[in-house]
Amino acid sequence: MSLDPSPAPAIELVGIDKKFGPVHANKNINLTIAKGSIHGIIGENGAGKSTLMSIIYGFYQADQGQIRINGKPIVIRDSQAAISNGIGMVHQHFMLVENFTVLENVVLGVEGGALLGRDAARARGELERLQKDYGLEVDLDAIVEDLPVGAQQRVEILKALYRGADILILDEPTGVLTPAEADHLFNVLRVLRDQGKTILLITHKLREIMAITDAVSVMRRGEMVATRATAETTVEELAELMVGRRVLLHVEKGEAKPGPVLLSVKNLTVKDGRGVKMVDNVSFDVRAGEIVGIAGVAGNGQSELLEAIAGIRKPSSGKILIDGQPVAELDAARRRELGLAHIPEDRHHMGLVLKFEEYENSILGYHRDQRYGSGAFLDLEAIRKDAEDKIAKYDIRPPNPRLKTANFSGGNQQKIVVAREIERDPKLLIVGQPTRGVDVGAIEFIHRRIIETRDAGKAVLLVSVELDEIRSLSDRILVMFAGKIVGEKTSEAGEQTLGLMMAGIAA
Ligand SMILES: Nc1ncnc2c1ncn2[C@@H]1O[C@H](COP(=O)(O)OP(=O)(O)OP(=O)(O)O)[C@@H](O)[C@H]1O
Ligand SMILES: [Mg+2]
Repeated sequence: MSLDPSPAPAIELVGIDKKFGPVHANKNINLTIAKGSIHGIIGENGAGKSTLMSIIYGFYQADQGQIRINGKPIVIRDSQAAISNGIGMVHQHFMLVENFTVLENVVLGVEGGALLGRDAARARGELERLQKDYGLEVDLDAIVEDLPVGAQQRVEILKALYRGADILILDEPTGVLTPAEADHLFNVLRVLRDQGKTILLITHKLREIMAITDAVSVMRRGEMVATRATAETTVEELAELMVGRRVLLHVEKGEAKPGPVLLSVKNLTVKDGRGVKMVDNVSFDVRAGEIVGIAGVAGNGQSELLEAIAGIRKPSSGKILIDGQPVAELDAARRRELGLAHIPEDRHHMGLVLKFEEYENSILGYHRDQRYGSGAFLDLEAIRKDAEDKIAKYDIRPPNPRLKTANFSGGNQQKIVVAREIERDPKLLIVGQPTRGVDVGAIEFIHRRIIETRDAGKAVLLVSVELDEIRSLSDRILVMFAGKIVGEKTSEAGEQTLGLMMAGIAA
């Protein structure tokens, strides 16, 4: 906390308003952020959180309203202006140059940031001081692309601090982190706060809000609807404020009724580009009418396993059978024809073409389906009608199939992928991180759809790094560690048991 007797708020937003064509993303937003606090921002997908942060960081201009920093009205025309006013942003898709070192990345683009002789030594000294002060360990000479995501994020934070940031904005920083990395990040944020920095944190994880923030503000449909001291609220109240109704924070499901085997994986081994075994002699079955969850810390081979089943990564040995048929020689499209649907972990790289319009993405990979016309002729009318149905059913906002996919908020992009794959009515659904970046209301909805898919007699294979999600959806849980399945448990297994197995400690 600052020693200043009555410090002005770090940030005051007065009447901030922003429209994108017909979409009113921010409506007359008033918000005060105390200096030296961690302030959470929550809200449904598309509520306007990222837009508001981008206005503070100078990436967008507000149509109306005023921003005051430390009591002084300022105009933030671009991110350069934000930086010179002490505002830093940690981007979700890191803006680092991957084949440069940490030191080069941090100094890059700073005035006088030459990396020669005395300047380099001075920069290194300054960075070492920042690392020590804030617990931001990372090897300054490492090449960025060799670092795990958590460490890359620390580089982003270092970069902002090196540029003199007193206010730090983080937009869903834990979405890509392992639980251990997230804990590490929170420790860093606490130290930053205790040394007087102000932190703005967007997250969909209400548990994180309760664990780390001092205050929390809730956005809904472009408006700022409430601000609470964190100590005086609950997860239930926040969920209700966000969504405008009670949210079931636990899924309810009946007993599984497993039928015939629809997916069979036999002695599967998958290597990465360097020949390292990412999936190591893995065997398991998934039956009709059951959800098999794969628990594990990110990076233990789950992604490679899903990609091999989907047909986008070639295994080096072993067999995969979909509904009894070996698929080694079939590409992803042919596997879809056999009844496979795939919700990929990374929607930006594999699930969507961002420059396409929404309705085009809503049939991506399925354009040869009978429903959308025959031969070379696509029935555009049918496709748009189909897209509109999914938009309504999955509450995709804004409800406009002609909008460019890049202009949907992160969580709504995820819903576009989920709707396309589940509504396909597959025999076998394989799912990676289905609720990454989606709000609590949408999580409830997506979980229910996955269970309905099971109850309709389909086989579901689920990969998630959210242990809660695995435990509440799965009928059987396989734990993956270092490329191997190290054990199988029922959904009754405790968090601790699974956690130890995920860490490779117990089988
Ligand atoms: N560049 C843009 N052009 C058109 N519309 C946009 C643009 N950026 C955002 N929008 C729209 O503004 C609204 C608010 O989006 P924003 O990204 O701020 O939501 P969010 O609260 O961050 O949601 P999420 O939790 O899904 O990330 C959405 O309806 C979105 O489609
Ligand atoms: Mg967002």
